[in-house]
Amino acid sequence: MLLGEKVALRPIFRDDLPRFLSFFNDIEVELAGGGDPPTPKTLKEVEKFFDVDADKPDPSKTNFAIEADGKLVGFCGLFEIDETSRTCELGIFIGDKEFWGHGYGRDAVRLLLDYAFRLRNFRRMWLEVHSENERGIRAYKSCGFIEEGRLREHTWLDGRYVDMVLMGVLRDEWRRS
Ligand SMILES: CC(C)(COP(=O)(O)OP(=O)(O)OC[C@H]1O[C@@H](n2cnc3c(N)ncnc32)[C@H](O)[C@@H]1OP(=O)(O)O)[C@@H](O)C(=O)NCCC(=O)NCCS
Repeated sequence: MLLGEKVALRPIFRDDLPRFLSFFNDIEVELAGGGDPPTPKTLKEVEKFFDVDADKPDPSKTNFAIEADGKLVGFCGLFEIDETSRTCELGIFIGDKEFWGHGYGRDAVRLLLDYAFRLRNFRRMWLEVHSENERGIRAYKSCGFIEEGRLREHTWLDGRYVDMVLMGVLRDEWRRS
């Protein structure tokens, strides 16, 4: 369990899945996150996504549930783990819209950076975010991520093409901040 000022990051349990299912079927939440176009999700797909029945955790990722005010509000984690280069992708998804824009995301990202750099010895974290996700971009910048590049008109989102922004932070930069 990782404790921040506003959120706790903890393992994902089977009982969490129905709430995740409702997050994944909320079009506004799906569009905010971008990525694949929204499609109706089933409980089976959510079970597969979180690998809840796997005997061994998938070494390419580490998932956490995000809890705030005693409620499950989303998930975050390390993905695309590259043990050789000591890099990984940071992903975050707050599915409870009541919790958007109040500093919960920033707190979760700070916890994850501390976990990745200090406890897992990663050297670089990176992420992708679509250019219209201002809330996400501002939260990531405030945690030390900088824009490293942009894939222009890369993603079809809600009736138009938007840029995909690549952001990253190195351990030394994180330490200095
Ligand atoms: C992106 C996300 C993790 C950010 O977490 P959050 O708790 O909402 O964000 P925070 O409150 O920590 O920070 C938001 C920042 O955007 C600003 N902001 C808040 N509402 C905003 C809005 N409607 N438009 C633009 N900026 C906004 C805040 O002022 C803050 O900036 P500041 O630090 O410069 O003051 C969360 O909103 C989320 O999960 N959204 C849905 C899924 C998603 O977008 N996932 C990320 C995919 S890359």
